Amino acid sequence: MKFERAAQANPADRMAVIGRPVRRVEGPLKVTGRAPYAYERHDVVKDPLVGYPVAAGIAKGRIRAIDASDARNAPGVVTIVTALDMDALPKDDKNIVPLFGGRAVEHYHQAVAVVVAGTFEQARAAAGLVRVEYEAEPAQFDLHAAYADLNRDEAEPDAAVGDFAGAFAAAPVTLDETYTTPCQSHAMMEPHATMAAWQDGRLTVWTSNQMVAWNRSALATTLGLSEDDVRVVTPYIGGGFGAKLFLRADAVLAALAAREAGRPVKVALPRDMVFNNTTHRAATIQRIRIGATADGRITAIAHENTSNAPPDGKGEDATLQTHAFYAGPNRLIVNRIATLHLPESNSMRAPGDAAGQMALEIAMDEMAERLGMDPVAFRIVNDTQVHPQDATRRFSQRRFVECLRTGAEAFGWPDRNRAPGATRHGDWLIGHGVAGAYRGAPATTSGARVRLQPDGSLIVETDMTDIGTGSYTIIAQTASEMTGVAIADVDVRLGDSRYPVSSGSGGQFGACSSTAGVYAACVALRNEIAQRLQADPETVTFADGTVRTAEGGVHPLSALAAAGEIVAEDRIEFGDFRDTFELATFGAHFVEVGVHAATGEIRVRRMLAVCDAGRILNPVTARSQVIGAMTMGVGAALMEELAVDEKRGFFVNHDLALYEVPVHADIPTQDVIFLDGADAVSSPLKAKGVGELGLCGVAAAIANAVFNATGIRVRDYPVTLDKLI
Ligand code: MOS
Repeated sequence: MKFERAAQANPADRMAVIGRPVRRVEGPLKVTGRAPYAYERHDVVKDPLVGYPVAAGIAKGRIRAIDASDARNAPGVVTIVTALDMDALPKDDKNIVPLFGGRAVEHYHQAVAVVVAGTFEQARAAAGLVRVEYEAEPAQFDLHAAYADLNRDEAEPDAAVGDFAGAFAAAPVTLDETYTTPCQSHAMMEPHATMAAWQDGRLTVWTSNQMVAWNRSALATTLGLSEDDVRVVTPYIGGGFGAKLFLRADAVLAALAAREAGRPVKVALPRDMVFNNTTHRAATIQRIRIGATADGRITAIAHENTSNAPPDGKGEDATLQTHAFYAGPNRLIVNRIATLHLPESNSMRAPGDAAGQMALEIAMDEMAERLGMDPVAFRIVNDTQVHPQDATRRFSQRRFVECLRTGAEAFGWPDRNRAPGATRHGDWLIGHGVAGAYRGAPATTSGARVRLQPDGSLIVETDMTDIGTGSYTIIAQTASEMTGVAIADVDVRLGDSRYPVSSGSGGQFGACSSTAGVYAACVALRNEIAQRLQADPETVTFADGTVRTAEGGVHPLSALAAAGEIVAEDRIEFGDFRDTFELATFGAHFVEVGVHAATGEIRVRRMLAVCDAGRILNPVTARSQVIGAMTMGVGAALMEELAVDEKRGFFVNHDLALYEVPVHADIPTQDVIFLDGADAVSSPLKAKGVGELGLCGVAAAIANAVFNATGIRVRDYPVTLDKLI
C-alpha cells in the first residue's frame, strides 16, 4: 500500500484501542524473567559452547603473530579461531571498521580471536593465555589537536543562505561562542550477544539487534553466504540506543566459532569490549554565531561543527537541527571531520540532534540573556512554519510555540528565579532553565503479515524489533483497532527474518513506520474478508470480534476463519507526497536545579517535557520513552564522558562503574505533557516517534538552569562541579 494522501479518515481513527494507555503486552514476560534474550536461548539451543573474544591491545598497526598453543591446551577448550586463520572479512556497507580477520588492526579492542570452551570460565581463562604480538603504527587520538590542525577554510558549507558574514557584522546583538561535547557511550544494559548454530550450511543467529534485515544482509556479506541461508532472530533486546543498528563482532565470532566447532556457540561481548570494540557517539567542537536585532529577531546564524571519525567514517552531525529549527535569513552550516584512530563513532540516540542541541540551546539562552529577553519569548519570536532554507517546504505540523507556552504555564516559569544567586534554599542555589527540542520524523517502508485464526484470535508477524520501546504494544493496539480482535487475543511476533521486512528500530522512525505496515496488512485482511462476504470494504465495520456489513449482517471473526486461518500481508510505502513537507517533532524542556553553594554539587530537582509528536499511539509507552530520554539527558548534562587515553587510543572508563549514568537517586520528579493532535501527513495512523525527541535539548536546559542558579556559564560538557568552582 502506498501512503499518498493526507487527512483521509480511516478505521484507525476510531481510537478505541489506539491512543489508550494499554500496558506493555510483553511486560509480564520481562518482569518474571521469562522473555528469552540472545545469550540465554537454551529453550531452542541445547548445550551451546561458550566463545570468549580476545581483543587487540593496540589501536593501529599489524598483528605480527598469534600464539594460541597454551590456550589450546587449557582445560575445556574446544577450538580457537584467530584473525590470522583468514583474510580480513568483507565489510558490509554499513560497517566502517573491520569486524574480524587478517593482520590489520584499525582500532583498539578490534577482535583478534575467539576461544571456545565448554564453560564461560574455561573460555575466559584460556583467552587470557592467547599471546598476540603487534607492530604498532603512529596514530592520532586527540580531537583538540586534530581540530587545531584542520584546515578550517577547506570545508565546503553544508548550507549557505543569504550573506551570513555581512548580516552578522551588522547585527546589533551578537554571540560567538564555542561549545564541546565528549564522546559518549550507549551504555545499554544487555551487551552485544549472539548464539549461533549451523545446519546444512545454513546459519541461524539468536542475537540482539535493532535491524533484522540489515543484520541478515551484513552477515551474508561478511561470511560469504546467500541471504537465504541466514536467519536472524531477535525478539527481545535489552536496550540498543543505536549501538545495535549494525552487525557487530559478537555475531561474526559466534558464527565462525560455531562453524569451526561443529556445534552451537554463544558469545557475549565483555563489557569493556562493548565500549571499545563497538561504537560510540563522537565528540564535537561546535562554534555557534548568532546575530539578532535589538528586539530579538535572528538575522544571522552560523553553526560550525567538528567531530571525530575513523578513516572514511562519519562523525556526529551536530548541525542537523540548525538547518530548520529557528528562522533567520542569513545562514551558514559547516561540518568538519577530524580523522582519529579511536573506535568507530556512529549513531547513538538522536544522532546529530542530541549533541547539536546540547550546544545550540545554550547559545539560544546566552542570546536571550544578551538581549535582555525571556528565553521562552526569544524562541517564540524566532519560530517558523516553513523551512528557513527553503520557503516552499512547510512543516506538516509544528507546534513548538505551543510546547513552550504550555510548558511555561505548567512549570510555573513566570515565578522562576530571576537572577543568579537570587533564590536560595539553605545552602542550595536554585536555578531554572528552558530549552527547545527538535527531531526529524522520518518514515520508511515496513511490512507485516496478519493471520486470523479459527478461534478468532490474530497473529501479527513482522521483523520489527522492540528494543524496550513498546513496539509489541503499539503493534497489538494497531492490529486490534483495525480488526476488532480484542487486544488480549492479538499475538504479536517480532524480530525474526522469516517475517516480512519492517522498518526496524532506529532514527525515531520505528513507531510510525511499523504500525503503518501493520495497518496496511490489516487493510488487506479487511478487504479479503469483505470480498468473502461480497460486501463493500468501505462500509464494513470490524469491532468486538465481529464483522458487520451495511446490510445488517453480523459475522463473528471465528466463524469466518472456521475453515482455516485467513492470511494477509502487505507493506506500507511512503511516497512523494510526504516528501513535499518538512516533518519533525518538537518539544520544550523545563528544569529546576539546586547547586550547593559550597561544593558545587548539582542536583536536578524537577523536570518537565512538553512534546508535539503527532498522534500519541499509547500515552504510557510514549511517556516511558520520554522520561527515559530525559534521564539520558541528565547523564549527558552532568556525568557522561568517555575518557580518551590519548597515548594508546582507547576509552579508559570502559565499564558501568566508571562511565557514569544516572541512577534512581539522581532523578527527581519528571513530568511529560503530550500536545493533543494528529499529523495526517505523517502516516495512516497520523503518528510520529518520540523516543529520540525526548533526549534533544534536555542537557542544555540543565546547563541553562545551572547558569541561572550560579551565573557560571559552562560550555564544555559534562557540567561537573569542578567547572563551577
Ligand atoms: Mo537510533 S541512534 O537510529 O537507534
